[in-house]
Amino acid sequence: MTPLIAGNWKMHGTLAEAVALAQAVRAGVAGADLLVCPPAPHLASVVQALVGAAVAVGGQDCHAAAKGAHTGDVSAPMLRDAGASHVILGHSERRADHGETDAVVRAKVEAAIAAGLVPVACVGETEAQRLAGEAESVVAAQLDASLPDGFADAGGVVAYEPVWAIGTGLSPTEGDIAAIHALMRRVLAARFGEGGTRLLYGGSVKPGNARAILALPHVDGALVGGASLVAADFLAIAAAAVAGRTPGG
Ligand code: 13P
Repeated sequence: MTPLIAGNWKMHGTLAEAVALAQAVRAGVAGADLLVCPPAPHLASVVQALVGAAVAVGGQDCHAAAKGAHTGDVSAPMLRDAGASHVILGHSERRADHGETDAVVRAKVEAAIAAGLVPVACVGETEAQRLAGEAESVVAAQLDASLPDGFADAGGVVAYEPVWAIGTGLSPTEGDIAAIHALMRRVLAARFGEGGTRLLYGGSVKPGNARAILALPHVDGALVGGASLVAADFLAIAAAAVAGRTPGG
């Protein structure tokens, strides 16, 4: 499976910085699919900056409704209209900051699919849940409740992001990442059949740890926060993903 390296720019950067970052990743990396997810006001300009480049653009959230009286929200058709092909949904920062439940996330995933967007649905345990030995059951329950039936057919992507590893410089052991990804593969296969759902790992992925993480079984790419704001680091992570898959490379 071609690795997908996705950059979640979160709430960072001016418009000029977003366009410059997009231009700096335009060249891409042979053998990897790249996706960048700028803040909503910058999205259309980033799409423009990437015309003709093999770098996809995504939103960071969408509303479950296609339109309506929802001040401050952005709909999936609006993202599509602005040139997005993907949208991150259910990120732990949305779950924590905006109280998004699995049911809310599921409705948003359905809206994204209806609008022709590829959803990147995020799951992951908190530190307390991991310490209590609940990581696997939490992730399985989130997958069950956050993904609608049409998810796999729509080419949906799942990102495993342990909450305690995001922006902290901490990451789970390679064994722990491999165990959760194997679990996710089993859960998805049981529900949707064997398929090509891409499973990303996210949480303090950097050029230095990317190769080892991205070479793990069932890790089909990365969702990158901080390091995606530095074009050289983002491209280095993508190159590490490709190198980790090439025998002897
Ligand atoms: P960091 O790479 O900064 O830990 O962020 C991960 C993340 O939340 C991506 O969605």
